[in-house]
Amino acid sequence: PVNLKGRSFLTLMDFTPEEIRYMLDLSHDLKSKKRAGIHNELLKGKNIVLLFEKTSTRTRCAFEVAALDEGAHVTFLDSNSSQMGKKESLEDTAKVLGRFYDGIEYRGYKQSVVEDLAKYSGVPVWNGLTDVDHPTQILADLMTIEEHVAKPLNKVKVVFVGDTRNNMSYAWMYGCAKLGMHYVAYGPKELWPEKEVMDKVQEVAKETGAVIEVSDNIECVKGADVIYTDVWVSMGEEDKLAERVRLLTPYRVTMDMLNATGNKDVIFMHCLPSFHDFETKVAKEAKEKMGLDVREVTDEVFRSRHSVVFDEAENRMHTIKAVMVATL
Ligand code: CP
Ligand code: NVA
Repeated sequence: PVNLKGRSFLTLMDFTPEEIRYMLDLSHDLKSKKRAGIHNELLKGKNIVLLFEKTSTRTRCAFEVAALDEGAHVTFLDSNSSQMGKKESLEDTAKVLGRFYDGIEYRGYKQSVVEDLAKYSGVPVWNGLTDVDHPTQILADLMTIEEHVAKPLNKVKVVFVGDTRNNMSYAWMYGCAKLGMHYVAYGPKELWPEKEVMDKVQEVAKETGAVIEVSDNIECVKGADVIYTDVWVSMGEEDKLAERVRLLTPYRVTMDMLNATGNKDVIFMHCLPSFHDFETKVAKEAKEKMGLDVREVTDEVFRSRHSVVFDEAENRMHTIKAVMVATL
């Protein structure tokens, strides 16, 4: 039987397929319980701290609502309002927080920070996004696929379009490798996954039967069940905007791309936030000041019947709840 009590959730690479299955089953279960108005206070009396060095809407709110739903108390800290990383070392911060809290969420830059928090705090640490991973998002995405695609996950083909070297792409590679899925990184060669990451996932794929591929040819979308994309410039690399627009414009997700899958029921997914129009300050300024069209997906696709992005966003909460319940 699976028992995750006391474990940290830093990357899906640390978990067996059975453990990931367990977290997904628990997520579906907690979602139906919430829908039915059943609250069992599974985290009653627990204290949780949320550390954010990058901004967030979904992840922060998902942790807060999930914790409060189950009777836990949360503290939110960002780098402006705590000593973290400025007046106090990471090691000391982790040791202090471990004395106060039952679990720690961290969003920021380096993966080594979540690893060190786990090493020094002595309590479960959950990765709320780093430069190279975003594992809680993948749990929500897998859950959403199970709700919308009538196939077991190991028969599902996911095509990740765009910056296939970013945290979302890597997190997807880990999830697909572990669960024996078919993953295609579709984007320009300049932004393909690094060799070390490729080698690491191919090792896992050998055991699970997963297929992990890269391509810059539109033919690769044929037969896709999921077309997934993310912003072209991730948090922390804003200076790369012009270069990314140049490299990635051919990979904007359009209705033509969805049609090229040949699957009339293909679903469109996106972790969000998204630039699908020019309504945001960033997209508008890029257009007006630099003449750059930063849309990674058209508004038509984003609002189409294929798009499941808001179910996906909701599922962040149910899956994050499952991770906290399982590890606490
Ligand atoms: N998808 C996601 O992590 O969203 P936030 O940046 O709003 O948390
Ligand atoms: N790749 C994006 C994901 C945001 C949820 C970023 O890191 O900014």
